[in-house]
Amino acid sequence: MIGAGVVGCAIAFELAAAGRSVRVLDGRASGGGASQASAGVLAPYVEGHDSRPLRALGQRSLDGYEAFVARIVATSGANVAFRRAGTMEVATGPDDVARLARSRATADAEGVAAEWLDISSAREHEPALGAHVVGALRIPMHGAVDVPALTSAAAAAAAQALGATFVKAQVLGLSADGDGVAVSTAEGVERAAQVVLAAGAWSAGLVPPGAEPAPVRPVRGQLLHLGTAPGTLRHIVWAPDVYLVPWADGTVLVGATSEEVGFDERTTASGVAGLLARAIALVPALGGASFLEARHGLRPASPDDLPLVGRSATLPGLIYACGHYRNGALLAPLTAWLIAGLVAGDRSDPALDLLAPARAGRL
Ligand code: GLY
Repeated sequence: MIGAGVVGCAIAFELAAAGRSVRVLDGRASGGGASQASAGVLAPYVEGHDSRPLRALGQRSLDGYEAFVARIVATSGANVAFRRAGTMEVATGPDDVARLARSRATADAEGVAAEWLDISSAREHEPALGAHVVGALRIPMHGAVDVPALTSAAAAAAAQALGATFVKAQVLGLSADGDGVAVSTAEGVERAAQVVLAAGAWSAGLVPPGAEPAPVRPVRGQLLHLGTAPGTLRHIVWAPDVYLVPWADGTVLVGATSEEVGFDERTTASGVAGLLARAIALVPALGGASFLEARHGLRPASPDDLPLVGRSATLPGLIYACGHYRNGALLAPLTAWLIAGLVAGDRSDPALDLLAPARAGRL
């Protein structure tokens, strides 16, 4: 395994649970890349609006999320906050109202409960909403997970209970080793019959012989962590320019910028200022919140926003699991199930056709 983010650790957990010998290489501690800045929103009917395949994959992963988290919690003994608080996607003008009416129709057609709330109903559900909100689409089955906690619990479950090894080593290159793969690191060369590349935005830098680089590019997200009175918000509140994820302890995550700035891993003054201004406009009570932290992460974006999951055409021992863009937390369980199948030689899952790396070039 290359990569110990939420996707890599989910895969390591499933492979180790299936009895595989697993070794995970990453130059950072687990969850030290994009995962540390994920707000953990699990909302295929918000973030997959325009893509039927993305909604279907997200729904499938979400359907198995409770059981997946429960297995990790039972194996690791760690706590992982996860709840289906529901989303309220707010409208602030007629264009939003029309767009959310289309989203509701899509959800209805696909069997997902979605409720349009006029402003007085919206305020019954979320009294703290700002004056410019005119209505909201509520989707109760959506949820959120504490991604840093899930990532470290999956790593602990894989390592402490199931025998996986986590090695702090920066991976420098990939080459063939018979039918397997040689992985060069700053500390030496590691060899394995099968290697899973789950290095997020850094996957493009690890190019197998004869292949093109994986078309995965970094898109920076900045995220704020605020402290406020428990109960200020009940739902995940999503607006066109900001979203808010409340937790039981009263803290609220405020996401997120979306910036094409290469591998620039920083929080910036304008990023933080913009998020604060939009969050306070959406929920004025947040003006009195404590400022706890600002985080940053590089989302791994693919050309069609769907992950690349499948075997390399040039290095058959290599399996790609990268390019999850805005949905790494949501799609981590499904990715882990697909990779566990592939490692066992099972290519029958139709999702593998959709996610085949070959759609994006000679990979
Ligand atoms: N999934 C939320 C984000 O990427 O900002």
